[in-house]
Amino acid sequence: MSRIRIFDTTLRDGEQSPGVNLNKMEKLEIAKQLERLGVDVMEAGFPAASEGDFQAVKLIADTITNVSVTALARTRKEDIDRAYEALKNTPHPRIHVFLATSPIHMTYKLKMTPEQVTNQSVEMVKYAKERFPEVEWSAEDATRSDWPFLAQLIEHVIDAGATVINLPDTVGYTTPEEYGKMFKYMKENVPNIDRVDLSCHCHNDLGMAAANTMAAIENGATQVEGTINGIGERAGNVALEEVAVALKIRGDRYGFETGLKLDEIKRSSDLVAKLTGMYVQANKAIVGRNAYAHESGIHQDGVLKNAETYEIITPELVGVSSNTLFMGKHSGRHAFKDKVNAFGVEMTEEEIKAAFKNFKILTDHKREVTDDDIYTLIMEVKTEQSAIEKYTLETFQVNYGTQNITTATVSLNTPAGETIQTAATGNGSVEALYRTISELIDYDQKLLDYQINSVGGGKDALAESHVQLSVEGEAVNGRGTAQDVIEASANAYINAINRYIMKTQANKEQVVNG
Ligand code: KIV
Ligand code: ZN
Repeated sequence: MSRIRIFDTTLRDGEQSPGVNLNKMEKLEIAKQLERLGVDVMEAGFPAASEGDFQAVKLIADTITNVSVTALARTRKEDIDRAYEALKNTPHPRIHVFLATSPIHMTYKLKMTPEQVTNQSVEMVKYAKERFPEVEWSAEDATRSDWPFLAQLIEHVIDAGATVINLPDTVGYTTPEEYGKMFKYMKENVPNIDRVDLSCHCHNDLGMAAANTMAAIENGATQVEGTINGIGERAGNVALEEVAVALKIRGDRYGFETGLKLDEIKRSSDLVAKLTGMYVQANKAIVGRNAYAHESGIHQDGVLKNAETYEIITPELVGVSSNTLFMGKHSGRHAFKDKVNAFGVEMTEEEIKAAFKNFKILTDHKREVTDDDIYTLIMEVKTEQSAIEKYTLETFQVNYGTQNITTATVSLNTPAGETIQTAATGNGSVEALYRTISELIDYDQKLLDYQINSVGGGKDALAESHVQLSVEGEAVNGRGTAQDVIEASANAYINAINRYIMKTQANKEQVVNG
């Protein structure tokens, strides 16, 4: 079977999802999971976009060794130089440069002629090739571009040194038949096309990203770009887990395989959902909670007699396991360490100590601690940026009753080491709590989004909260976990404030350091 290369852009296009805002430790944990999953290329970010992006790409490039790490750049020298700085220590670097090629983008956005677009692409691919062994060039909005123009441009860009050509459906506009024909056209009309990998990149605005991707594969694409859980701009990108499992299950039809370790899919999906706060709908293909559940009596009867009657994918194939071994208050440090190893997560002794301490606290309240709980505790420790823990929650109390005015009292430790306390009222527990916290903190704050979820199942499940705040007019996200929903909510709010402080500190340092 021929191999389709998997290019993951969860950390770049995925991170462009509205409301998603990962810190560099969170990005690093996702990058490590992508390495375990076995993607061929991971796009770690867009270094020229901000100092934070640059630092995250650099950290990933300095850490990941088994996967090619790439970064996005416009066709500008300063973007390519910035990407080079971020990627220079990774063993398999790739640059990804892009320029729009559709009439609407060239006329209104770029204000460039087709000839200028060709010249700038060729020049910048040459410049990039002097610095990178692998140069991917993308024709932004390829699916609304003129095919003969694009074919000529691709020929020149390949001659200039591009090793991968990507034809994105940037606005999710194309159809399977049309996209397939476009790939066939380029295969037939670009004389040097066989020298490069041909890549597809589909957005899901019309819900056709997976079908379009499969059509591209059938017509000559050798690389698929997408994200875990299909997160991304607007309606998102194609979900890589859907493509990989479709190629596996319908190998008879397509005759291609990927290098993904399919049983790492569920863990990858859970991690991305947890860290981005973009939870997966229950009926989502491959990774949704209901994807392997059979509700109707006729289906259940069929599955009991022969699972294949209604089950084309086994949950085990993608790492969904039904037989969790619970841990509890008698589980010791050794068993905990074994769990960490089983997850494939590397932890220092210090980190294990911190996670184990939280595990012990949890077992005081929860009889059966699940794999999901333990993974959550591990990720709390792995993604914590100790430098950002500026405010901490010392104590809180919320009085709620159907006949009372809800009142919250909160005591916080400040960045300056003081303890401050106040009380306020609200229409409900969370509102009273958030009003009280916001009175203690001097920034202009507004709650934009609030979510609460349970980790795993059961009535004593851990609570996980995500918030988005506007702090001094800037959108920041926060995440918090606790046994109790109100405490998890408080932690998420304070986490968002701390991220804002961290971000402003980093920006100040950048100005000082030039
Ligand atoms: O969708 C798109 O066109 C992109 C490019 C930057 C490759 O993400
Ligand atoms: Zn895209």
